[in-house]
Amino acid sequence: MQKFSHDTIVVLDFGAQYSQLIARRVREMNVYSQIVPYTTSVEELEQMQPKGIIFSGGPASVGTPNSPRPDEGIYSLGIPILGICYGLQVMSVQNGGSVQRPDKREYGFADLEVLDGDSLLLKGVSKRSKLWMSHGDSVSSLPPGFRHTGRTTNCEFTVLENDAKRFYGVQFHPEVVHTSEGKAFLSNFVLGICNAKPDWNMGSFVATAIEDIRKKVGDRQVLCGLSGGVDSAVAAVLIHQAIGDQLVCVFVNNGLLRKGEAEKVLQVFRDNYKIRLQYADAQDDFLSALAGVTEPEAKRKIIGKVFIDTFYKAARSAGEISFLAQGTLYPDVIESKSPSGGPSATIKSHHNVGGLPEDLKWDLLEPLRELFKDEVRELGRELGLPEDMVNRHPFPGPGLGVRCVGEVTKKRLDTLRDVDAIFIEEIRSAGLYDDIWQALACLLPVKSVGVQGDERTYEEVCSLRAVTSEDAMTADWYRFPPDVLQRAASRICNEVSGVNRVLYDITSKPPGTIEWE
Ligand code: XMP
Repeated sequence: MQKFSHDTIVVLDFGAQYSQLIARRVREMNVYSQIVPYTTSVEELEQMQPKGIIFSGGPASVGTPNSPRPDEGIYSLGIPILGICYGLQVMSVQNGGSVQRPDKREYGFADLEVLDGDSLLLKGVSKRSKLWMSHGDSVSSLPPGFRHTGRTTNCEFTVLENDAKRFYGVQFHPEVVHTSEGKAFLSNFVLGICNAKPDWNMGSFVATAIEDIRKKVGDRQVLCGLSGGVDSAVAAVLIHQAIGDQLVCVFVNNGLLRKGEAEKVLQVFRDNYKIRLQYADAQDDFLSALAGVTEPEAKRKIIGKVFIDTFYKAARSAGEISFLAQGTLYPDVIESKSPSGGPSATIKSHHNVGGLPEDLKWDLLEPLRELFKDEVRELGRELGLPEDMVNRHPFPGPGLGVRCVGEVTKKRLDTLRDVDAIFIEEIRSAGLYDDIWQALACLLPVKSVGVQGDERTYEEVCSLRAVTSEDAMTADWYRFPPDVLQRAASRICNEVSGVNRVLYDITSKPPGTIEWE
């Protein structure tokens, strides 16, 4: 592992669901943070030269055999350590304290009682503040050299400190929003005790990333597939800043894009940024391959296959290419390394380009590997991408193909595009777009009778869906104010031909998926 050019806080991951959140909280203080597995060797940690180390929580119990433990040499590095929950317990046990399992698990809110006003970790924290607890075990005797500076009704050793060694620990979770003054604890550690310089921001990231890309690429060429999504857009613009015309982008119009999307991509990347762009208009190829197919998996396979054929054909005509750029993000990187395997990286794997054909020997260039999604959006803004491109909802690789339920035809796609555009427009004008994880419209292969003017109609049904979610693994339906749905429904029936009925989907995930397919 390398030494980073910014002051860094390392999060040692014991398999906690909150490890990524801890890293994000640190970065919100403009300090770079990096998650590494608890098995990382002391030598590697030494090379990274972090300003501080945070032990994450974790699902294990320190008392059980084979519970995850860091190399004990970590306590001799002279680097400040903050243990959170399991992290506190493992630090206590390894330093001569003990941990017990009380009769009851403690889960939920607790009140902190500050015992020592001079504590470095508790500086500026109110005498009584709300904490979020979630633990079975707790520390039952202090390790030598430690004192406790905070307690709650059910947990005597809630905050531990050893100022001489600069080891600290908290039984609660400062990284979650439920801990009312969580940021204060973390910044006391990161900025106060570790004295980390808060100089990590997107401006400094751009400068370093450009240098790295130039060094890696030299005078060779990079290929980047544009999807219209934020990750590939940001990756392309960043790489373009670094190497200009050595970047070639490929944009496949599969005919399954939203209204005006293809034009927008061409306008932004070709006209505005002046990026070399191979535009593959393959709408007819997709449509003819999809003709008559209604089974969801079969549609997906066809879309995937035609995409790959089109993409590689365009790539082959782009000249000598050495690198394929991908918008891989930090959560994908961590999930593949996490001790618990992480919640899975299914979203990304849906639309990766797949294995490279034999004759294309490209290396990967992944300039966003260190960033969380919200940082990518910030970076996009920093690079001047339009706000509606930076801040958009996720959109699936197979596009409207998974929203045009039944057969995919040009006419049905056009209808769906109009419905979708009205729905999104109404959400935006109600100011609700950013409250929603994803909003979408589907066209159903079901006809029903309606009446428009004096005429009876017999047209298809569309369904609208909007969900809130953290990571798309689970989702809840979004509670719209009724008038927003009403406006969208009435505009859809009035303005879009081919649809005379609008449904709103109130299925959560599970049991439903987000897309209909
Ligand atoms: P589901 O429908 O499985 O979707 O609940 C979960 C999330 O993944 C998106 N999705 C895809 N994204 N390629 C993608 O890039 C795909 O093939 C794909 N299928 C679903 C979906 O929009 C939602 O955000």
